[in-house]
Amino acid sequence: MDGYSDLPFRKLCREYGSAMSYTEFVAVEAICHGAKKALKMLDFDPSEYPQMSFQIFGPNENDIVEAAKRCEQMGAGIVDLNMGCSVPNVSGRGAGAGLLRDPAKIGRIFNAMSKALRIPVTGKIRIGWDARSLNHVEVARIMQDNGASLIAVHGRTKEQKYTGHANWDAIAEVKQAVKIPVIGNGDVRRVEDIARMKAHTGCDGVMIARAAIGNPWIFSGKNREDVLVRDVTKLMRRHLDMNLRHYGDYGLILFRKYAARYIIGVPGAAELRHALVTAPSVEVFLDHLAGLESSADELDRQALETRRRQSGESPLESLADLSCTESRCDLMSGELAVV
Ligand SMILES: Cc1cc2nc3c(=O)[nH]c(=O)nc-3n(C[C@H](O)[C@H](O)[C@H](O)COP(=O)(O)O)c2cc1C
Repeated sequence: MDGYSDLPFRKLCREYGSAMSYTEFVAVEAICHGAKKALKMLDFDPSEYPQMSFQIFGPNENDIVEAAKRCEQMGAGIVDLNMGCSVPNVSGRGAGAGLLRDPAKIGRIFNAMSKALRIPVTGKIRIGWDARSLNHVEVARIMQDNGASLIAVHGRTKEQKYTGHANWDAIAEVKQAVKIPVIGNGDVRRVEDIARMKAHTGCDGVMIARAAIGNPWIFSGKNREDVLVRDVTKLMRRHLDMNLRHYGDYGLILFRKYAARYIIGVPGAAELRHALVTAPSVEVFLDHLAGLESSADELDRQALETRRRQSGESPLESLADLSCTESRCDLMSGELAVV
């Protein structure tokens, strides 16, 4: 996800059990020009390799192939072509979902990329430009026939952007039509949705995007309400620290959007969010976070008590029973992906 799937966030998702990761999408022109910001977006950690996709986008065939080659030279495990972005200044110039309007061009691009690269080339598509031009099966077959190693399908059209529901039937159609692995994507919001999507579509993997923001625990099989405030604050400190190491002081600014999502559902979240996203320094930010930490155990106790009463469960022996353990993360590893 543009603006989210940077190295610190992907690393955390991996630790919680995500099996594969994609960088934010990076413009092929920027890669070809060696733009510093673009190259920083392609930083990765050896622990991610080789299920580590550099995602690129662009309208021009030669630039796409050239950028893909450079990604290989930079150490990518996989190069993925974005054919799903619906934003007008991307899709409107024939990049992202704009490529779906020209399946023959997609064929030429994959043919050239797969011949030029030794590493796998993959693509992420939407199911068509609009409801009148669904072409997910055609595009998937063309990709397979031209050397693609995997297809991720977001079950919406470009016109839908993020509205309506993801069409999981269409993902199932792609899975039926090709032999290469298919990753299903769209509207996996809760842990239960992962098995539901697999059963509905037969897909080989499940991609989780928005639901991982503020809840990387989803990769370890936990919904957000199952995570203790104590564990949320611990992770916030760690994620911020990773951001500061990766970006320097600017890491605090970039952390704000994650912070706002981490605290959703915490009592007093609106006030705390304001304090966190306006904190002028790391010290002030951590002071506000310390306020939440000081009440974390009490909030967790109250939440557990409420849930116990509502469900008639027996009392938990200790809060540690709900902490995310490594073995629980291991259990889920190898099954999920994140953008
Ligand atoms: C803020 C944001 C940024 C995104 N950036 C990308 C991107 O760079 N590349 C990509 O393939 N999809 C991108 N997406 C789309 C998601 O990967 C995913 O296809 C979509 O959100 C549906 O999945 P979800 O219901 O799990 O969120 C982005 C989505 C959001 C909300």
